[in-house]
Amino acid sequence: MKYTCVQKGGGPIRQGFNSSEAHTMQFLLLFWLLLSLLNASETANAPAKPHIIFILADDLGFNDVGFHGSAQIPTPNIDALAYSGIILNRYYVAPICTPSRSALMTGKYPIHTGMQHSVLYAAEPRGLPLHEKILPQYLNDLGYTSHIAGKWHLGHWKLEYTPLYRGFSSHVGFWSGHHDYNDHTAVEKHLWGLDMRNGTNVAYNLHGQYTTDVITRHSVSVIANHEAAMGPLFLYVSHAAGHSGNPYNPLPVSDDDVMKLNHIIHYKRRRYAAMVAKMDDSVGQIVEQLRKKNMLENSIIVFSSDNGGPAQGFNLNFASNSPLRGVKNTLWEGGVRAAGLVWSPLLEKRRRVLDETMHISDWLPTLMEAAGGHAALANLSQSLDGMSIWKTLVHDLPSPRKTVLHNIDDIWGSAALTVGDWKMIQGTNYNGRWDGWYGPAGERDPHLYDWNLVLKSRSGKEMVGLNMLPSRADQQRLRAAATVTCQGGSTQGASCVATAFSAPCLFRVRDDPCEQFNLAEQYPKVLELLRAELQHINTTVVPPSNQPDDPRASPMYFNYTWTNFGDYYDYTNEAVLKQSSVLMDNVEKTAKNKVIKF
Ligand SMILES: *[C@@H]1O[C@H](CO)[C@@H](O)[C@H](O)[C@H]1NC(C)=O
Ligand SMILES: *[C@@H]1O[C@H](CO)[C@@H](O)[C@H](O)[C@H]1NC(C)=O
Ligand SMILES: *[C@@H]1O[C@H](CO)[C@@H](O)[C@H](O)[C@H]1NC(C)=O
Ligand SMILES: *[C@@H]1O[C@H](CO)[C@@H](O)[C@H](O)[C@H]1NC(C)=O
Repeated sequence: MKYTCVQKGGGPIRQGFNSSEAHTMQFLLLFWLLLSLLNASETANAPAKPHIIFILADDLGFNDVGFHGSAQIPTPNIDALAYSGIILNRYYVAPICTPSRSALMTGKYPIHTGMQHSVLYAAEPRGLPLHEKILPQYLNDLGYTSHIAGKWHLGHWKLEYTPLYRGFSSHVGFWSGHHDYNDHTAVEKHLWGLDMRNGTNVAYNLHGQYTTDVITRHSVSVIANHEAAMGPLFLYVSHAAGHSGNPYNPLPVSDDDVMKLNHIIHYKRRRYAAMVAKMDDSVGQIVEQLRKKNMLENSIIVFSSDNGGPAQGFNLNFASNSPLRGVKNTLWEGGVRAAGLVWSPLLEKRRRVLDETMHISDWLPTLMEAAGGHAALANLSQSLDGMSIWKTLVHDLPSPRKTVLHNIDDIWGSAALTVGDWKMIQGTNYNGRWDGWYGPAGERDPHLYDWNLVLKSRSGKEMVGLNMLPSRADQQRLRAAATVTCQGGSTQGASCVATAFSAPCLFRVRDDPCEQFNLAEQYPKVLELLRAELQHINTTVVPPSNQPDDPRASPMYFNYTWTNFGDYYDYTNEAVLKQSSVLMDNVEKTAKNKVIKF
């Protein structure tokens, strides 16, 4: 920070210097010499800023990782980090992809960026607003070099919305919300096209390479090529897994990988599990590469899901949030309470379960504080919804985060808010169809969990190497503390029946994590307090930015690739746009009749 101040002061001093150019040059030389000396001594004394590796899983359920009590899907690499770092046990995210990613990147609730309703569709002429400064840009200001591997899903209709224009130095991955893991095409509403990029180029050469492997290879190569002169590294690893692929092959993964998990009876669950296991393996490879480059000991690794899991066929997928209620894109705990952990030797109080509430928007200020960006943060905090909980994480101090707005969506007529121990939820996103409890609970017998797998995994070995993996007994204790159980089975009790715009329900969510007991009638005063808070927040909402699909975005006009279509057309003419929604019908008919047959 000192460096920036001195450099900025340079302007006025130079202006006030009235002698000849030669003198000015001499002065400047001296000035820069002094500056570089200052800079050198600062880097020698100040501890190096930590590398930040943010690993985001897609659509991973709360019950799909071992550290929350499941013994079904092997996630030993993720679990080893969880036991050695901090398990974020009350970690909240937005209920669906685009809103969640927008909160991560901006440190703001989606209601404050217009991203609160549904997802971004690939043919929509919109993206995360360009006036929003995002995480890699803030970190780059603090000296970081930023890279992304994998899914973006925050806008690509014009190039300026894509990662290379928003702070990332490289991107190997895809722009839309999902694709096939082998052919890399994305089917959306009868439109079909290739969605895989290397930077801004279409990555035809990656055809046939499994997406999780492509993401892992790019991540590993970014780490391998990282040099101290580039400053600290920010690497955003944004997995496709375990999001489903296209309808013709919703759960793409090799038969070899599926066969390793024959203990899972349900075939589609087994395929989903194999996709998750591949992602877990990727985590191990990244941790191993960090150690090989001597970067691990000065790294912060975050693992997080973007939203709750799509269970029992939702999105053609088979995740599990059991015993939590609801699924992805609902405001129940199963939609918003996510699997998450943070690992770093910088955390002084590690090997613990954090029971304080955290929201995904907190990462931006938290990581900025970890990166020494106090001054920039002081400027910012008024405009953010996120709060830095860095001190909470490092020293086990109380968290400033008490209230979490889960969403306000006046199009679907749903909203939810948590304040302290209480949660209010009103409305529903699917007319009540996804408001129940969904399996599979999976195998949860602690004796069937394979502790040796944790020890033998790549990250397990690295944790042992750093002497950070706790004893088996401590791992067992942590895992038990992070396992949610319901009172008397998960579908008992007076549940809340929600309809769109219906009366709110109230849960004491800390004691009733499965949202079984609606206390709205017993605690009218608490309900009133939460309603008032929601009304207050509601006055700050900006309108959702959703747009009708532009039929001219169809990949069939672009060599069957999803592309930055907005750069090809004139969007200043309103009449053209209106005409295009008529066109859309024709495109859809053509697509249905002629182009795509699955
Ligand atoms: C992406 O492009 C760069 C520059 O052309 C190249 O060096 C790199 O190998 C490519 N990556 C992949 C995964 O194809
Ligand atoms: C804080 O904000 C002011 C005014 O926008 C700006 O000039 C200054 O550079 C900012 N400081 C930091 C450290 O970002
Ligand atoms: C938020 O305010 C708008 C505009 O006044 C209103 O139409 C809407 O119903 C409110 N939403 C909630 C959840 O209170
Ligand atoms: C489609 O591919 C051809 C041949 O490579 C190329 O000349 C053309 O520019 C491409 N069109 C678009 C819209 O990308």
